[in-house]
Amino acid sequence: MSTNREIVMSGIRPTGYLHLGNYFGAMRNYVKMQDEYDCYFMVADLHSLTTHPDTKELRENVKRVFAENIACGLDPEKVAFYCQSHVHETSELYLYLNMMAYKGELEKTTTFKDKVRQQPDNVNAGLLTYPVLQTADIILHRAKYVPVGKDQEQHLEMARNFVNRFNHRYGEVFPEPFAFNFGGELVKVPSLDGTGKMSKSENQNATIYLADDDEVIRKKIMKAKTDQGPAEPNTPKPDYIENIFQLMRLVSDASTIEKFEADYNNCVIRYGDMKKQLGEDMAKFIAPISEKAAFIQNDEVYLRKVMEQGAEKARASAAKTMELVRAAMGLNYF
Ligand code: TRP
Repeated sequence: MSTNREIVMSGIRPTGYLHLGNYFGAMRNYVKMQDEYDCYFMVADLHSLTTHPDTKELRENVKRVFAENIACGLDPEKVAFYCQSHVHETSELYLYLNMMAYKGELEKTTTFKDKVRQQPDNVNAGLLTYPVLQTADIILHRAKYVPVGKDQEQHLEMARNFVNRFNHRYGEVFPEPFAFNFGGELVKVPSLDGTGKMSKSENQNATIYLADDDEVIRKKIMKAKTDQGPAEPNTPKPDYIENIFQLMRLVSDASTIEKFEADYNNCVIRYGDMKKQLGEDMAKFIAPISEKAAFIQNDEVYLRKVMEQGAEKARASAAKTMELVRAAMGLNYF
């Protein structure tokens, strides 16, 4: 990878399908960054073992995540796009960092507490040290910028703590990593049921996945909540209506949006027509991405090449860092 550009690293968990929220949030952000930074994008298969120990599903999921991300514009020639388990240095660094992570702080982590509630029968040590592994992922490339959503802020804060402890104990090896988004605020993609954002696990009918076919997309959109329409001109929009407009702004032409804005303000809006239009525009937007993803996912030869090439780039960077780490720690005995 080229030399003096700043380093970006992020991880994608291979659980669940990519949805519109991922596309307009994370994915577009990655694609914009690939020309200006040295980017390491990783599929976090080891992390997924903390919650999904069955690797049968994992195999397909990992391939799909690769295919979907490439279909969205991630270019494996420009970035290092790799699988976490292919870079063994990660596990070595994780082990060293574990000696600097305290039980108390790990137990206080919000995501850990959530998981304890969600899977009380499998509160494994990997769950507890999840943020340590994530720190290893990031600092293995001595990355400074980590494009992630709000839910990862606490993990980043922990990463900075681990980095500072390491540097203080063994000498300056790592820069502090920070959450970062290219071009400011991430676009929010509202869910179709009027509550919050589209998300992987919650209401599947309120989330549009890149793998949904045209018919499914149309149906999901037609089910979005609406009402009788405004009774007076220029009434502020209720949230669930604003959400439909917001989705339209992501995929429809300016003239279409203007028409429905005007209809709304003049109290002549027909939500059935609006949703029909949005369904068409959304299907048209997603079809080329999902077709491309399906095509790539079936091309085992290509996928394998991508993974190998990504792992090679990631290992080259990791090997350099680990030399520094072992030297700083005094693990080079002669
Ligand atoms: N924890 C992240 C998530 O749940 C995934 C992840 C793993 C990650 N390793 C990372 C994100 C390194 C950023 C950097 O989405």
